[in-house]
Amino acid sequence: MKTRLTDDPAEAAALIRRGKLVAFPTETVYGLGADAWDVKAVAALFNAKGRPRDNPLIVHIAALRQLDAVAVCISEWARALMEHFFPGSLTVVVRRRAPLPTIVTAGLDTVAVRMPSLAVTRAFLRACACPVAAPSANRSGRPSATTWQAVQNDLGGRIDAILRGEPCAKGIESTVVDCSAGMPRLLRAGATSIEALRMVVPGLRTAATAHDVAAAGDTAARSPGMRHRHYAPDARVVLVNDPSEVEPHGDHAYIGLSKPAEPADFGQCYVAGSAQDYARVLFDFFRRCESAGIRTIYCQVITERGIGRAVMDRLRRAATRA
Ligand code: TXA
Ligand code: MG
Repeated sequence: MKTRLTDDPAEAAALIRRGKLVAFPTETVYGLGADAWDVKAVAALFNAKGRPRDNPLIVHIAALRQLDAVAVCISEWARALMEHFFPGSLTVVVRRRAPLPTIVTAGLDTVAVRMPSLAVTRAFLRACACPVAAPSANRSGRPSATTWQAVQNDLGGRIDAILRGEPCAKGIESTVVDCSAGMPRLLRAGATSIEALRMVVPGLRTAATAHDVAAAGDTAARSPGMRHRHYAPDARVVLVNDPSEVEPHGDHAYIGLSKPAEPADFGQCYVAGSAQDYARVLFDFFRRCESAGIRTIYCQVITERGIGRAVMDRLRRAATRA
């Protein structure tokens, strides 16, 4: 299959309406979209990614009026979160409305809904005029794609088209919050911080650490994606508190907030200006290191505050060889 490249959201949307698979940019990471009503297209999407069928997809919408077609019994908490954070980098899990194909939600009675904020994404979703089921546009288990070139590297030849956009501004996936029963609960740390969410839902429940999230059977059942290995480059990922812990051996790289004493020793080195900057470049850095044949990527641990929590979640997962 030849993967078409386009800059035109209307052309990309026309392909979605014809049952095709189209990757598209968002402010978090690139998504791989299919018409959520089209069971055949969604099945092809799982195959193109190599994604296990038990891992449900996020349904992307352009406007809140599309919500009632896919969801029922939307709680007050869910409404409040949507009011504050849609459009943006928050995904809200609510109860699924029956006509939505079960393949989208991996058989769960809930559905994850997101309304991205990037202008080109909104134009694309509006033109699709259907809810768009979309996981991140990477081969399953790989780091999410934050540039259209990364999408092409992972999925070129396996999908119909890529809507090209700028590199993703946030670079890390949306925060996923379960609002399907009782007090909202964090399922995946992401680009919207917990501190921001707690301004709206002070009682928001969280698991203590990313490791707990991975270990907790209960949470795993609620968010099947968290069971699977994720975000991992081919290279070994090693977490360090300080760049002085890096053991130079030629085919290594470093990313962190602190500057190494002798940056010249580093073939691949990124000193991030802030936690946001760290999040923005992380997955792209992983991919660059792979292309450069780097064997070990040293990543500096950062404070789990704001987006730092999501960065640490991804780093721990990438460092875990499961
Ligand atoms: O930023 C993002 O969220 C990107 C862009 C494209 O929107 N999407 C993304 O999708 O990261 P994906 O499929 O890579 O991750 C979606 C996560 C998975 O962990 C999945 O298990 C969880 O959301 N999820 C989806 N539907 C769910 C549901 N009904 N209940 C619980 N978790 C759900
Ligand atoms: Mg993903």
